[in-house]
Amino acid sequence: MERARIGLVGLGTMGAALAMNIAEKGFPVAVHNRTTSVTGDFLEASGKLRPRFTGAVSAAGLVASLATPRAIIIMVQAGAPVDAVIEELVPLLDQDDLLIDAGNADFHDTRRREAELAAKGIRFFGMGVSGGEEGARHGPSIMVGGPAETYARVQDIIEAIAAKYEAAPCAAHLGPNGAGHFVKTVHNGIEYGDMQMIAEVWGLLRDGAGMRPAEAGDLFAKWDEGPLKSYLIEITSKVLSATDPETGRPMVEVIRDSAGQKGTGRWTLIEALRLGESATTIEAAVAARSFSSMRAARAKGATLFDAPSEGSVPGVSDLETALLAAKIIAYGQGLSLLTAASEDFNWGLDLARIAEIWRAGCIIRSALLDDIAKAVRAGLPEGQLIFAPAFAEILASGVAPLRRTVAAAAMSGIPAPALSAALAYFDQMTRARGTADLIQGQRDFFGAHGFERMDKPGTGFHGPWAMSKG
Ligand code: 6PG
Repeated sequence: MERARIGLVGLGTMGAALAMNIAEKGFPVAVHNRTTSVTGDFLEASGKLRPRFTGAVSAAGLVASLATPRAIIIMVQAGAPVDAVIEELVPLLDQDDLLIDAGNADFHDTRRREAELAAKGIRFFGMGVSGGEEGARHGPSIMVGGPAETYARVQDIIEAIAAKYEAAPCAAHLGPNGAGHFVKTVHNGIEYGDMQMIAEVWGLLRDGAGMRPAEAGDLFAKWDEGPLKSYLIEITSKVLSATDPETGRPMVEVIRDSAGQKGTGRWTLIEALRLGESATTIEAAVAARSFSSMRAARAKGATLFDAPSEGSVPGVSDLETALLAAKIIAYGQGLSLLTAASEDFNWGLDLARIAEIWRAGCIIRSALLDDIAKAVRAGLPEGQLIFAPAFAEILASGVAPLRRTVAAAAMSGIPAPALSAALAYFDQMTRARGTADLIQGQRDFFGAHGFERMDKPGTGFHGPWAMSKG
């Protein structure tokens, strides 16, 4: 029997979809799952693709059914389960065989695993896969980090299964070691911010303008035909328009308002803080998910204070523009974080390429990403997306609606933390004379930290505080 070109461990939703995608593109795949019945069920459901699969009941069986040098994709829950699979496979592998972690790994783990496996002569790379189940089955966006020559071994498979944007595969080798998983993590951070800003606009429509879900669904569907066109706006419209078959009520009214998170948003923030970068829109989104879980406290809070009612929600055209402006600012923060990490880890990330492979397949795919890719290729003034001519033009008129939206949210007591964070970022990045003069004065006053002067070169100047200290 023909040996399989690639193996896959972990036939959960994403692994199964990815295995089907690979087989559909013509590559024989050997599959294995810890629970054997899952493998049987998968093979049974594989239909006409069945001849391309070899089902293995054990890790040893999987390894034996692969062409050498072997390549095995691991698609199991991030964290300890990945280490457990690696531990089981390594004694069965030969030098130069390749393991690929396609889950949402913490990139620090990816760096560690690559180093540990390299010491044993086993190749390894981390691969971020975005697009959910549908993407994995029919074309995800794929972010690879590891040795370039290792990626070359499976590049044909990865490019074949990836989403296509105008025929170009949305897959790329982005840099060494953890680069692929880091880029996927930031992708998810941006995803969090984007989703949160959309949810905040929903909050303004529902609680400020009294709009019913179906009507809001229609509005988002309309916005999906304009500059906001994106997967997230499209699914927002569908979620808002859906009816609960059990109760006949709008689905969104039946869904509990507590959002889960698996860690990628938080990891984005941790890295942003470590690098001294601002990711305030993502922080707002991560925090909002935490607040969302505090249902009892929120319910108590609602009884203690009267809701203000002074704000009036801007018109829908203002909201559309506000969302677009905030989204551009949030994406700018994400790109700046990628730039900082690239320098820190010496990854040489190609930001334009990253934006290009996000244009199709992934959760944050949108019309905007093509414009972002072009702007990055042309060079960002001061490294800032918001200064790129195409975006500066949108923001020149788009920030006023964002301002009105944030002001209305504040006056009505409707939370809009991510939209507010985007506006605050914009205001700080466009204010030539800031207020850190006072911060420096304060630091020097209490700790003699020294400051620079505007009127002469040099550092370590001090103020006349002795006189004020009396
Ligand atoms: C994607 C998604 C995917 C997954 C995230 C969501 O790009 O396909 O980001 O990776 O949906 O894990 O993360 P949370 O569960 O933390 O929202």
